[in-house]
Amino acid sequence: MNKSVGILTAGGDSPGLNAAIRAAGRALGRAGYRLTGFRDGFEGLAFDRWIPLDEPTFSGILTAGGTILRTSRNRPNKMPVGKKFLDMTDAICENYRKHQLEALICIGGGGTHKSALLLKKAGLNIVTIPKTIDNDLARTSSSIGFDTALDVATSAIDSLHSTASSHKRVMLVEIMGHRAGWLALGSGIAGGADVILIPEIPYRLDAVAGALKTRARDGKLFSIVPVAEGAIDAETAAAAAKLEAELAALPASDKKNKAALKAKLDELTGYRPERIFELARQLEAKTGLETRVTILGYLQRGGKPSCFDRLLASQLGTAAAQAVIRGEFGSMVAFSQGQTKLVPIEEVAGVRKCVTPDHPWVASARELGVSFGE
Ligand code: F6P
Repeated sequence: MNKSVGILTAGGDSPGLNAAIRAAGRALGRAGYRLTGFRDGFEGLAFDRWIPLDEPTFSGILTAGGTILRTSRNRPNKMPVGKKFLDMTDAICENYRKHQLEALICIGGGGTHKSALLLKKAGLNIVTIPKTIDNDLARTSSSIGFDTALDVATSAIDSLHSTASSHKRVMLVEIMGHRAGWLALGSGIAGGADVILIPEIPYRLDAVAGALKTRARDGKLFSIVPVAEGAIDAETAAAAAKLEAELAALPASDKKNKAALKAKLDELTGYRPERIFELARQLEAKTGLETRVTILGYLQRGGKPSCFDRLLASQLGTAAAQAVIRGEFGSMVAFSQGQTKLVPIEEVAGVRKCVTPDHPWVASARELGVSFGE
């Protein structure tokens, strides 16, 4: 009987997931493996919801956005069951054995890697593939979906130029990225933005307003300002740093106070849709320049994968299949300088890759005269 391998997609969807499923499936099929797709992320494995993935399934999905397996953010050890959250790790291990899986391929981002580590520690043979439009996964230079999202955000910034110019407006455009500024920074540079606000460089309102007024004084009739959804001002960043220090000082046993501090931290720095509208109002009041807001939202995650993401997903998918065939488990298939390499999941789970102040993109933006509102 053919050896069997499971595959799932977890976390937020991103373009290129189907290309990765297809690549892993085709390569495994050629080596005589059977592939089983689990539905809705780890939920499918917990509740035994699956579909066989055979050759005809892979036809026509290379260019399709989303994921044919569907996805969810539900974690093995915090699975919603009715009104409760249950630890379903044992059930997942049972279903893994029931399907006589040789290995499980998990395609996902930060949350998925924490879950994958948990299952690795529970004794399952895991191989992961990096996917996130945020590009914040450690130990890989690129993750599936980032390039497509970068294209979408850049095209949006391109389009905003003509209307901003016609109306002499300041255009704030909210860009995804969770707690990392890669998407806002990359699309901002590629789209010729004037001010870019990212979480890694906390801004001062006066400095942002100053940069906009200077442009207006210099005869620039409009300004384009990509704002990462996680961007915060310097005061908020200082308050968050204080809370983080308090949190780190608490002993692990003090679960109650830890949870309370985490909730405070989340309230302070977590995503709030109204934040960008507040910023627009404040900037308009300080500069006297008419200011508008555009939120790109899920458009950044939808649609066809870019050529780069199809290539990346194909390369990572086949490399994941090879890792399974060679029996090399417990790793993420990372991408580095055009090559794939295996990195232990421990080095990825819980580590966020953020924009560093000395990153070449930051240096280049500064040289171009872009303000970070510091
Ligand atoms: O991680 C990808 C991402 O799109 C982030 O950029 C964003 O913060 C988040 O997912 C949105 O999540 P959800 O799909 O749960 O609204």
